[in-house]
Amino acid sequence: METKILEQSFSTYFNAKPEFIVRAPGRVNLIGEHTDYNDGFVLPMAIDHAVWIGLTPRTDSTVRIRSLDLEVDSAFDLDSLTKGDGWIEYVKGVAYELQKSGYHLRGFDAVMTGDVPRGAGLSSSAAVELATARAFAAVSGFEWDAAQMARVSQKAENEWVGVNCGIMDQMARASQAGYALFLDCRTLEVQHAPLPEKTSVVILDTSTRRGLVDSAYNERRSQCEEAARWYGVKALRDVSVDDLKKGESGLSEIVMKRARHIVTENARVLEAVQVMKAGNVKRLGELFNASHASLRDDFEVTNEALNQIVQCAQEQPSCYGARMTGAGFGGCAVALVQEENAPEFTKAVSAAYRQRSGLDASVYVCKASAGASLI
Ligand code: GLA
Repeated sequence: METKILEQSFSTYFNAKPEFIVRAPGRVNLIGEHTDYNDGFVLPMAIDHAVWIGLTPRTDSTVRIRSLDLEVDSAFDLDSLTKGDGWIEYVKGVAYELQKSGYHLRGFDAVMTGDVPRGAGLSSSAAVELATARAFAAVSGFEWDAAQMARVSQKAENEWVGVNCGIMDQMARASQAGYALFLDCRTLEVQHAPLPEKTSVVILDTSTRRGLVDSAYNERRSQCEEAARWYGVKALRDVSVDDLKKGESGLSEIVMKRARHIVTENARVLEAVQVMKAGNVKRLGELFNASHASLRDDFEVTNEALNQIVQCAQEQPSCYGARMTGAGFGGCAVALVQEENAPEFTKAVSAAYRQRSGLDASVYVCKASAGASLI
């Protein structure tokens, strides 16, 4: 993204140069799906697609933002926030939660743009939230604390927007360029996990979008909570693979399946971090494949398009492994591919998927980028 475009648009709207430019990336989760709200482990990576805001502080409490992509203007007053509809609610929610946590905010004039596909499982909403938090930190002069800002943004999404998400997406913005982020969602401890050498991370967008996802997502959450109660633990994170079987005597078949996904997925994330450190990309790929099967058969959050595109990817000789990524029910998959063969892989998967599903996919190699930042 050219910061020039942002500067030019800013001067068209506000007749000046923006004082600050902030950026927050989208993310792709490599492994650890639906584990975050079970106090478990995840391994996301910030990608080179992001939301950008160019802004200048105001002397009053008004926030004005022009969305270049949606071609709409929005404004609100920090002293009298009220709920409404649309993308601006992510911005207002962050403002509300920051003020509730005691931050003194200044208003600003801004233009916003981005290239994170919406509704694709690459977490465009958390990118807007973290870019907003970064913008407020810049104009209001408070220090950037990645974990604190992730919590504030998650609260904004839970309580202001009304989506009951976990902490992974917001924490993913604490990434470092070139690394994936191994996160313990209970303690919020992070480790930077090295990506395998000579390997490309490829995003496969099925071009299907999730529908009615909130109710299905909340249903999975309550099934996981039911299982945790049965095992007598705080969260499924506390159940070991060995103890899992006990549930077969008391849990319904469906709740047992949900628990099996979470418990085995946590084990896969822990192993993934080990094999990444050891540079064993072949095993990492096998873990990707096992994760997809578990999400498809036990957690039941894939759709046909995701299953088809993952299969098309797995059939390519240059692919180590592939799986759906994000909440599921549509959106994207992620594959690990031999770097030198990534261009061929991209073409072959697009063609095979078109033939099998009749749909056009967007397939792109992505880079592990830095988290939310001030440019
Ligand atoms: C969505 C949520 C995350 C996480 C994933 C599934 O992206 O926002 O908190 O639960 O789904 O892993």
